[in-house]
Amino acid sequence: MKKRKVLATLMTTALVLSLAGCGGASKGESKSAESSDSSVANADKPLCWFNRQPSNSSTGELDMDALKFNDNTYYVGFDANQGAELQGQMVVDYIKANADKIDRNGDGVIGYVLAIGDIGHNDSIARTRGVRSALGTGVDANGEVDSTPAGTNVDGKAKVVQDATIEVDGKEYTVRELASQEMKNAAGATWDAATAGNAIGTWEASFGDQIDIVVSNNDGMGMSMFNAWAKDNEVPTFGYDANSDAVAAISEGYGGTISQHADVQAYLTLRVLRNALDGVDVDTGIGTADEAGNCLTEGEDYRYSEEERSYYALNVAVTADNYKDFTDSTKVYDKVSKQLDESKSPSKKVWLDIYNASDNFLSSTYQPLLQNYDDLLNLNVDYIGGDGQTESNITNRLGNPSEYDAFAINMVKTDNASSYTSLLK
Ligand code: BGC
Repeated sequence: MKKRKVLATLMTTALVLSLAGCGGASKGESKSAESSDSSVANADKPLCWFNRQPSNSSTGELDMDALKFNDNTYYVGFDANQGAELQGQMVVDYIKANADKIDRNGDGVIGYVLAIGDIGHNDSIARTRGVRSALGTGVDANGEVDSTPAGTNVDGKAKVVQDATIEVDGKEYTVRELASQEMKNAAGATWDAATAGNAIGTWEASFGDQIDIVVSNNDGMGMSMFNAWAKDNEVPTFGYDANSDAVAAISEGYGGTISQHADVQAYLTLRVLRNALDGVDVDTGIGTADEAGNCLTEGEDYRYSEEERSYYALNVAVTADNYKDFTDSTKVYDKVSKQLDESKSPSKKVWLDIYNASDNFLSSTYQPLLQNYDDLLNLNVDYIGGDGQTESNITNRLGNPSEYDAFAINMVKTDNASSYTSLLK
């Protein structure tokens, strides 16, 4: 009896502490939830953009009309620049730690090839810049590192990149981007893994012995190049996303990857909708614990920009040192894994699309995570898988928006937000 009481006290203390750690106790302001409401106009329903931030694909400028479509509109993604810097640093650290064996043909040049996902996608641009600036191969273009693909640059004469030098253990090496290209297939799908697998075949046939490192804007393309060539030739390959197959490949020579904390992003994607549907503060279960005890840590798990109406998950490098902690990319994040009470957060219907059903990251990591969280958040989600090429392939399947309480949208092209919002007006 006594023991039980002590335990109860401890638990209460722990709960209070964990709430305090989340920036204050839950405001407990959950109004009794409105049931699926046909009186709410589609234009006023909660809307979450995710993975592709509404923005101009040439300039990167945010599309604030889309981001402020209504009072309950948000974007959920991750901090592209912070992640890109980490990826670049991971490659530099690897070179420094493995200098004795990295220059495979002993020509004094550390050569790398780079797979680019989508030249008009902010994440892809940031990753290309991050790698080039960490290695010193970037050149300035209008005050930023040029992210244009170099094509083939075996002679080091390309204009969009430059040769760099790196000193390791008293020896100086040249670092050269031997080749880079956007991995887009003939039908127009970007971040295309099969195209990357073919590209490494072409590159290795003409200058294979000069390739010391393979870098990719994501793991889908990285794994394709690793499996097609780099693994057998023991060339370290660096990707991004921490998909489960890539993390497992670290034990077989894959150099490393970056976790964009998809477990935090998938939660936030649905959580902002849930909060709007419940009429509670948007921070509930995010920076402020909800009644179930779900709460993230701002500054560690994510950051929020009020001005951009955007939540950005923070990234973590995954290398041989820590990969065992990341083997299941579809596992919900412990801090936000508690079931919501259905009497306060009743079942609601959400329309959600994945722009490309065959994108490795979205289909093998992000969607399974969403499916784990939708139950915990009492959301009944219809998942629509697009073809990765045309917006209409997806928008055609939003025939009756009035059937849904909220929307989560992943566009094919970041410029195209109005193709969706026009259906809600
Ligand atoms: C991911 C890529 C993915 C892309 C799709 C990025 O955030 O890192 O793997 O292909 O999103 O939009």
